[in-house]
Amino acid sequence: MNQVNELKEEIMKSFEDVKTLEQLNNLKVEYLGKKGKITELNAMIKDLPNEEKKAFGKSVNEVRTLFNEKYEQELVRLEQDRINQKLESEKIDITLPATHIKRGSKHPMSLVIEEIEDLFVSMGYDVVSGPELESDEYCFERLNLPKGHPARDMQDSFFITDEYLLRTQTSSVQARYMMSQKEKGPIRIIVPGKTYRREDDATHAPQFSQIEGLVIDKKENNISLADLKGTLEVFARKMLGDNLDLRFRPSYFPFTEPSYEVDVTCFKCHGKGCNLCKQTGWIEVFAAGMVHPNVLRMNGYDPEVWGGFAFGPGWDRITMFRYGIPDIRLMYQNDIRFLQQFDRKDGE
Ligand code: DAH
Repeated sequence: MNQVNELKEEIMKSFEDVKTLEQLNNLKVEYLGKKGKITELNAMIKDLPNEEKKAFGKSVNEVRTLFNEKYEQELVRLEQDRINQKLESEKIDITLPATHIKRGSKHPMSLVIEEIEDLFVSMGYDVVSGPELESDEYCFERLNLPKGHPARDMQDSFFITDEYLLRTQTSSVQARYMMSQKEKGPIRIIVPGKTYRREDDATHAPQFSQIEGLVIDKKENNISLADLKGTLEVFARKMLGDNLDLRFRPSYFPFTEPSYEVDVTCFKCHGKGCNLCKQTGWIEVFAAGMVHPNVLRMNGYDPEVWGGFAFGPGWDRITMFRYGIPDIRLMYQNDIRFLQQFDRKDGE
């Protein structure tokens, strides 16, 4: 009996030192395992005289119950500790400020072309593109500018080989598009794209951009200069201001006849004269004209049957006018201080 009481005390003590689940398990083995201390006491019962068996058996049961109770208690405590520790180590501070994600903004030229494309698509045009590395054939010859033509001098070019160059004008896509039509039919396209010339100052960059326009239809549909004028008027008013007027000045381009340079009322001084329009009240925005019969013929359209107009404003130039940007180079330098000024939130 003494043995039993001692064991009870020992058990109480050993639980005091338990700090981990592993230690707790070891205790279980120590007391209730095959050769455990309680197991051994239990085994002694059968060898006792009958009159002692009952009492001894009872006290062994008490020890076992005591052990199991303590064991359960500790198990719950250690489990809880483990969970608390885990919670503590995985704690997320939801009051911390979020990581700042820098948001880009659209380039002013993208803002401008999105509006222009919307306008022309609403008038039934397709938006198409062509290669920037272009052949002499498409950039010049098929546009009525044969080799040696003096008008080539106006477009100082980056030739890559004798036959290939960085296109000097998006007009090359006029020829490409006409040629690509298997069954010749009406055409209504705009072609926004990059162009290249050997020039470099505040209003000219070696890489710049144009938006070509081409409309071709059957002669019987009477596409006339009036249609060209109406189209450019809508274009100019939408992009540069409601009350603008247009002025057509005769000019020369080999691929159009007649050809024009088209001015709009100065949107800064409204025609009074200022530094932007060099006191003339007008600003040149478009080059345009009626498609030359040679261009139609060379690209598979019979000039007896088909006719139309073309135009080619500078995309950079329109963007500069639209936003009052003083230097074309700003648009190609990727300076974040410049670009951020065009940050528009959705719906603005
Ligand atoms: N491609 C010409 C240039 O860069 C501009 C131009 C003139 C385009 C007349 C046209 C046009 O479509 O009809 O100088």
